Amino acid sequence: MGLYLDSADVDDARTAQELGFIEGVTTNPALIARTGRAPLEVLADLVEIVDGNVFYQLTSPTLEQRLDEAWEAYGIRPDRVVLKVPTTTENLSLVAELAHDIECAMTAIFSPAQAYMAVQAGARYVIPYVSRATRLLGDGPGLVRAIRDVLSGSEVEIIAASIESPDEAIDAVRAGAHHLTMPLQVIMAMGEHELSQQTIAEFAASWETK
Ligand code: E4P
Repeated sequence: MGLYLDSADVDDARTAQELGFIEGVTTNPALIARTGRAPLEVLADLVEIVDGNVFYQLTSPTLEQRLDEAWEAYGIRPDRVVLKVPTTTENLSLVAELAHDIECAMTAIFSPAQAYMAVQAGARYVIPYVSRATRLLGDGPGLVRAIRDVLSGSEVEIIAASIESPDEAIDAVRAGAHHLTMPLQVIMAMGEHELSQQTIAEFAASWETK
């Protein structure tokens, strides 16, 4: 059960890495665009900052260009770059070609059928978008549950993405997600509870008045 940071920001990556228990980082084109930097440069920095895997999403417009982009990204750090490939029939073929040599995650999954196809193509991970699925289809955790069912008997793992709150994260885990990827602010909020703070304050006060 791994926890990934969902960000392309190097400061976020440093902060998450310093926690000492994140599994790696997932990026996407929107997150990389926010940095204002070249995608492969950002990837090169992230693999230096974190110890774990860094997921890089292919964005080139044609299949041939995405294939080249895949090898270029992989070449940056072959042991720790995982390719994220948006799920389309064309990209399933791309993953079938790449998956023998490079770990691939099929991303932007919105149906169990897409997850089934990702297994057939040889993907290592499937990435359903929980919050978006709740917003657009009604039940993000239900999507994760159905995907988990479809994956039974395979070694493909679910990384639940598009997580906006601790409750949503835990709903995804309870629905069967193997891993989570979340923005830094959600990761930082997960370990906090106002009653824990209150209890800590009570202990401190009783120590002071003893
Ligand atoms: C997944 O890896 C994506 O980067 C991400 O979680 C999408 O989340 P969003 O719905 O907040 O854009």
